[in-house]
Amino acid sequence: MSNGTGSGLRTLLDERRPGWSLPGVAYTDPALFGAEMRSVFGRGWLFVGPSSALPVGAVQSWTVGGESVLLSRTATGLHAHAGVCAHRGSRLVDDDGIAHRRRIVCPYHSWAYDLDGSLVGAPQMGPDFRPDRHGLVPLGVRDLAGLLFVSLDPGGLEPGAVTDEFEAMERDVTPHLAPYDLRSTRVAARNVYRVRANWKTILENNRECYHCRANHPEFCLTNFEYGTAGDPRSTPAYERAVREQRATWARQGLPTHTVDFPDGLPHRVARLPLKPGVITETLTGARCAPLLGRVGEQSGSVRVLCMPTMWVHVNCDYAMLTRVTPIDVATTDVEVTYLVAASGDYDVDAVTAVWSATSEQDWELSERNHLGQCSRAYRPGPLSPLTESSVGTFHDWYLSRLEAHAVA
Ligand code: FES
Ligand SMILES: [Fe+2]
Repeated sequence: MSNGTGSGLRTLLDERRPGWSLPGVAYTDPALFGAEMRSVFGRGWLFVGPSSALPVGAVQSWTVGGESVLLSRTATGLHAHAGVCAHRGSRLVDDDGIAHRRRIVCPYHSWAYDLDGSLVGAPQMGPDFRPDRHGLVPLGVRDLAGLLFVSLDPGGLEPGAVTDEFEAMERDVTPHLAPYDLRSTRVAARNVYRVRANWKTILENNRECYHCRANHPEFCLTNFEYGTAGDPRSTPAYERAVREQRATWARQGLPTHTVDFPDGLPHRVARLPLKPGVITETLTGARCAPLLGRVGEQSGSVRVLCMPTMWVHVNCDYAMLTRVTPIDVATTDVEVTYLVAASGDYDVDAVTAVWSATSEQDWELSERNHLGQCSRAYRPGPLSPLTESSVGTFHDWYLSRLEAHAVA
């Protein structure tokens, strides 16, 4: 496909046809994957996980875009640093996950860092050594209504375009999420999947519901197949549900409007109706956990998307958070976390039933799609103007990041 650094990117930019799936090189070229890690994942804001899973004294490690990120919480607040030792650069933490730590100690020569990133121990460095000059490299970190985001971009630390991008998302998303009080939740379950597909194949699948009726019986029990960005299809039953449920939400003071990738930004938020008589996304439509925050049972289902790593469904009783981590051009890890209220009984099987089934169906669809995208017979195909325009929105955003990279 590609015969050298940059040629895959050039082929993609030259051959991409709006309204069609991407040229095959987009899904197969390792050099292009490297460019994506710098230009798409190395900029902007990446969802890391729920704030409630990171108590004081804990460190969350996440490797993304070829970079190791360490998130921590101390009595003074939230911190994020590159997981690279200030001595000779060793990776500090090997595995992704969350652990309580008193210090972050480098496995190479035992330099020790406080959770706020400052160097507190460096044996045998001589009398002139100044530990205060050798802390970890800080990264931008934010808590958006209980969702943690990090920026690998140095611009994430200072006022400017990168922080403005976060603030726009925060302004649009916070009114929808705040009533659920996601900071006061606990993790009911967490599933990690290794998917043999390019990360964009997984995002594309998420951006349309063309495939839902044929592939997601559990999802379709409670959800209409409409409501994806740019999908103009509707039925009288859907229109009625939107009208009636919006009136109910408005009476409770819940926001009812949709924000759809404004000005080319990577976020979307919408409150969607569930089918009549359905309270939440479970197999029966009945509640499976205590109500979240201050919402009632008639609050619909909030959907938040932040490209390229996150989509979230927030129901009245549980939230489902999906995080996408590219591993290589043909491999992606996906973590699905379920949050419930901090106290009260819940049925974990009921909490996870719809989204473990739906997620696993999506990974299978994505893997099969990726096999075809890697075939010599693959040619870009036309997107449905009725059901797949949001796939095109994702492509536009992705390509704008790559173009900025190519220019740079
Ligand atoms: S590289 Fe970390 S202590 Fe030497
Ligand atoms: Fe799906």
